[in-house]
Amino acid sequence: MNQNPIGIFDSGIGGLTVLREITRLLPKENTIYLGDTARVPYGSKSKETVERYSLEVAHFLLKYGIKMLVAACNTASAYALDRLKKELAIPVIGVIEPGAKAALLATRTKRIGVIGTEGTIRSNAYASAIKALDPDVSTFTKACPLFVPLAEEGWTDDSVTFSVAERYLGELKAHGIDTLVLGCTHYPLLKGVLAKVMGPGVTLIDSAESTAEEVKRVLIENSMQNNGADAHAAHRFFVTDSPERFVTVGRRFFGERLEGAELARLAE
Ligand code: DGL
Repeated sequence: MNQNPIGIFDSGIGGLTVLREITRLLPKENTIYLGDTARVPYGSKSKETVERYSLEVAHFLLKYGIKMLVAACNTASAYALDRLKKELAIPVIGVIEPGAKAALLATRTKRIGVIGTEGTIRSNAYASAIKALDPDVSTFTKACPLFVPLAEEGWTDDSVTFSVAERYLGELKAHGIDTLVLGCTHYPLLKGVLAKVMGPGVTLIDSAESTAEEVKRVLIENSMQNNGADAHAAHRFFVTDSPERFVTVGRRFFGERLEGAELARLAE
């Protein structure tokens, strides 16, 4: 059981930022990743649709004997985590709770900003998770849908991305936040631009890093770690459409270790 892979899914490519942190922190763990590239984006879809997609993806990964499921997608975590936890007999981890905890550890002024897709922001999941842990915190949120295509295009240090970031983040800056949660899989790629726009007084919270910590904690808690001598973990990739594009763009997120991806047929 302990050698069984960790299943990780996202609406597409962005979840590779979470996978990258998991493999960095847990180099012995085998992983199996599914990017639902045929149906991306999840960020602009309804809760019902994102829930249905997430369940279909989870059932596909279960066939490969995963010991844990990580919803790397913020929108899926916001909309479908409760349902996944209810229906699956293995531990299920999302990115919202770990990101919220990390933000609370970072803030001094208790004024936290959250950025994400339309769905993540509309769901209020981050703000609720933060408030549940500390009701004295003020949260300020902003949907930033254009950041996803900019990250996929590789425009991570481009004047266009700067202009878009200035426009989106202006109101959050005006609220005097000291911490900003990057509540979307793609945003860690734009960290450089976001840090420059927000200035040195604002800590950026990458939920990918805190999610990897949570994965480790839950593995230990359930005695599920792969402690075998074989340090060469296997990483398998599935997508629901166009493996070639996934590999080309995905290398920006995961590096050259992403050698190929297989086409997944999800059962409806
Ligand atoms: N993976 C999504 C998220 O983290 C971003 C891309 C999408 O909208 O599907 O919310």
